[in-house]
Parts: sequence; structure tokens; C-alpha cells
Amino acid sequence: MSVTLTINGNRTDTVNGVSLFEHAEQLGVRVPTSCRKNGKCKECIVEVTDGLHLLSPPTDAESHLKDRFRLSCQCFITGTDGDIKCHTMRRGQMRIERHALGLPTSGKKIPLDPCVTRDGDRILLDGVEIDRSTGPIHGIAMDLGTTTCVLRLLNLETGELIADASFENPQRFGGSDVMSRIHYDTTVGQFLLMRTLAGYLTHAIESFPVDPKSIYEMVVVGNSTMRDIFFRQDVYPIGQTPYRSITEIEMADGKRTTTALTQTAAKSLLPIHPKARVYGGPIISGHVGADAAACMLAIDIANEDRLVAVMDIGTNTELILGNKDKILAASCPAGPAFEGGAIACGMPGLDGAIEDVRIDDATGEIRVGVIGNQPPEGICGSGLVDLMSELLRTGRMNEFGRFEDGSTRVTLDERRDIFFLESDVNELAQAKGANVAGLQTVASNYGVSFDDIDVFYLAGGFGRHLSVDASRRIGLIPNLPNEKIVQVGNAAIEGACIALLSKAKRQELEQLVRRVEHCRLETHPSFFDFFVEGCQFKPVETATERVG
Ligand code: FES
Repeated sequence: MSVTLTINGNRTDTVNGVSLFEHAEQLGVRVPTSCRKNGKCKECIVEVTDGLHLLSPPTDAESHLKDRFRLSCQCFITGTDGDIKCHTMRRGQMRIERHALGLPTSGKKIPLDPCVTRDGDRILLDGVEIDRSTGPIHGIAMDLGTTTCVLRLLNLETGELIADASFENPQRFGGSDVMSRIHYDTTVGQFLLMRTLAGYLTHAIESFPVDPKSIYEMVVVGNSTMRDIFFRQDVYPIGQTPYRSITEIEMADGKRTTTALTQTAAKSLLPIHPKARVYGGPIISGHVGADAAACMLAIDIANEDRLVAVMDIGTNTELILGNKDKILAASCPAGPAFEGGAIACGMPGLDGAIEDVRIDDATGEIRVGVIGNQPPEGICGSGLVDLMSELLRTGRMNEFGRFEDGSTRVTLDERRDIFFLESDVNELAQAKGANVAGLQTVASNYGVSFDDIDVFYLAGGFGRHLSVDASRRIGLIPNLPNEKIVQVGNAAIEGACIALLSKAKRQELEQLVRRVEHCRLETHPSFFDFFVEGCQFKPVETATERVG
């Protein structure tokens, strides 16, 4: 009898009394840590998906964790027979890049006008000296998503992109959606979500190929909850109707002039220059946050004549519709399914994720493509969209999401036990239904049909790699012609970079958010009908009579 352990897809036999952390080390799996494996740093979190009963009981150091989450340095193998499966909060990829920032749409060069400037060896923030140095000066843009965190390091004097990093948001132990994070943050307290994230950010920043003390400003965007947790604001009001951030409430009361936030690096617990400023982009309203605002900056909607739509798919999908004259925005709690959450073998779009799927018409054989060309560990959002499209195309799944052969699972990789369940389809159907219903509601409020949209920006971490054909086939996006659909990738991080490099654009952003009308999906009379229809896997009609 023996206990096997599979961690991040690597399998080994275990030794009784040895911790998960030590087993991971032996397997060469890197586990985040900043302590002596004594339960202090709280960074070594793993999610145990199988075999929880084969581990020692939680210690006091783990009292902040619930369900399947454990600190890997605190749990030891105690069982004698069975399989344990777990994974770290994945650290993700780091890419070192050196090129000019490529903005998605306009191709116009953003005038370099950062808040941090140099006068000889004097480093100035808004004209006030904060340091002396002759070396390069840097800034960080961050898109803090519910599921994924993306950082970009820029040279503030040249606008050059130096490096980027992305990793799974480790706050997932506090729940996978914004409402559970709000509940966690307001009931457990002690800023544990923020402190855990700060540990991960510290590792990422220290891995950048520059001196962290040469980083003098950071721009943070994210949905209202993520941003406010990062800035240690009280997030309780965002979780209660009428769902308003504390900054929105204070602004309505005349206590502040913008919903943007600033604080010093020291308060943010980050290893950048202690006098650096951390700027949180302004939120729009309710759950429509600074990430949606940053998207608007990236697509230059303030100067747009055409009617454009943005669908930034994530755990919270952001929807924007408008042009320079009128803008509507909504936030749609679609859930984490398209980011790999709540799916049996789901994972974020990081190395090891199946990102494309083809089914051979003749043999029925399933072929997969994996990010990083390595053995698969799971399947990410673009892979899930491809898979469902292929199952539909080959008649193995019907438009209600049922498998036609009576089975309940599709095997993707037998050896590594990666599969897709019929119950996973339900999660994806609901996420898809919410996204489409949100878009239909916004169009209805705007008084237009999908046919009236001139440009449809498909944004989001996985938006760039998504197959447009597959997305249309399953009804994730409207049935618009190819020439109207533009895949812009992570528009929020692009917008954050613009706000970092240009003071003028940052001011424009703060003005722009005031002009946006917040479309509250939950109060629209047709939202539920749109949702029910949107849960089906079929193309979304675009004609006028189908909207409104
Ligand atoms: S390694 Fe620090 S808490 Fe486990």
C-alpha cells in the first residue's frame, strides 16, 4: 500500500511524515515562500483536489484557510493508501521583453509624459524630488484580476517594455469570485488577502531584471473589489446593494474629487522605492472598475466616432458600448469558468494548459495544443471554448450542452488523467449565458442591435488566443463578421501602461469615467430571458429584433 502525490501534474510516491512542501521540492516544483517553512509567510498555499483525508489535520497557522486549501509546509502525509492531487497557486510565466509598447488599436504613439521625471541625477515625482540616481527609472503597470494578475515593467524615460509577469491570483483561497472575497476580507480581516498577494508581488518584482528601487511609480487597475482590497479599503459596501465602492460613496458625499486612489509603496508592502507612488485607477461605478476604465483608455473611446463594443471576458466580465458621445458600461459576474475555475481539470492560461483542441472528423481522435509545448496539466479558457465548439461541430454535444452518446466525460489525456465533464458544460453555459445576456442588456439600453456595432473588441487575458470561429459557434460572442471583430488581448493592462506613461492620459481617464453611464444588469426586465437563451450553445443572432 502506498500514497502517490501528483502536484502540478508531477507524480511521485510519498514518504509518511514528510510535508507536501518537501515533496514538491523533491519534484522540482517551485512553491512560493518567504519564511522558514514554519507557517509564517502564508504563501505556500496549495489546493488539494483529491486525497485531503491522507494529510495531517490543519494547524493553527492555517486557520485562515478553508475547504481544500492548505499550507504545504504545514501538512504531512499521514495516510497509507491512496492518491493525493494538488497544485500550487501557480506562479505563472515571466517574460523578458525589450520592445516598444504595442497599443492595440490606434497605432498612435502615446506622448511620453510620465509623473516621474529626471533633472540631472534628481528623480522627481510630480516635480518633487524623491531620490537621486543616474540609473534608468522604471514603473510598473498591473492588472489585478480576480483570477489572474499581470504585471508589466516599463522604462519611464523611453516607454520601453522591459519585462512582464503573470500569475494566478493567490487570493483564491478566499473564494473564486468577488462576492466571496468581500465576505472573506470583511469577516476574517487582518488584510490577509492583500498580504498574501503582496508576498507574490514581491517575488515577481524581485525577479525583474532591474533594481526594484529604480521603480518609482506603479499603476494598478482591477475590478472595484480587487482594487480596493489591494488598497486596504473597506470592501463591505461593494458587496451590499447598491454595490458601491467606498471611494464612490465618498465622492458622492463630496469628500473626494475622484475615485482614483494613491498610496506609498511602503504602505503597499512592495519592495519598490519606498517613496514611489502606487496609483489605483478610477473606477466607473459599482462593480464596473478600474480595469474597464483602463480598457476604454486602451481603445481610445474618448476620440471614437464609430460605435464600438468591448467584451473583456473574465471572472467578472466587463462590457462597454459606445463612442465619444455616449458610453454605457456594465459588469457581469460570469464566474471563473472561462478562466479555468470551477472546472474539474481547469486551469488559467499559463504553461501546461491545453489551449486548443481539434477532433478528427474521420477517427474522432482528440488532438490538443498545450501552452509552452509541455505535457498538459489542465485546460484553460480558450481550450474549453475550442473543445465545446468541436464537440458541437462533430455532433457529440447538443445545443443544450448534453453529451449525445450518453457518457458524462470526455478524456483529453488518459495518461495524465485530464478530462472534461458534462457537469463542466453547465458551469460554462452559465458563464456564457451571463456574458451574452449582459451584452444584450447593454445593447438594449443603448437602443441598438448587434448589427449596429462597427467594431467588436474581444479582450481579456485569453481573448487574444480565443478562436473567433469557435466563440461564434458556441454563442460566446455575437455572430458578427470577421472584419468587425478585433482581438485585443489584455486591454486593461494596455490602458494601465498608458496611464503610467502619460499624465495627460491619466487625467483624461479620470474625466472619462464621469461620463460613463453604468448599466445595472440586475434591474433590466429582460436580463433573465437573455440569460436563459444565452445558456444554449448556438450562434447569437445579431438582427435588430433580437435585442431589446
Ligand atoms: S512556507 Fe511560509 S507559510 Fe509555508
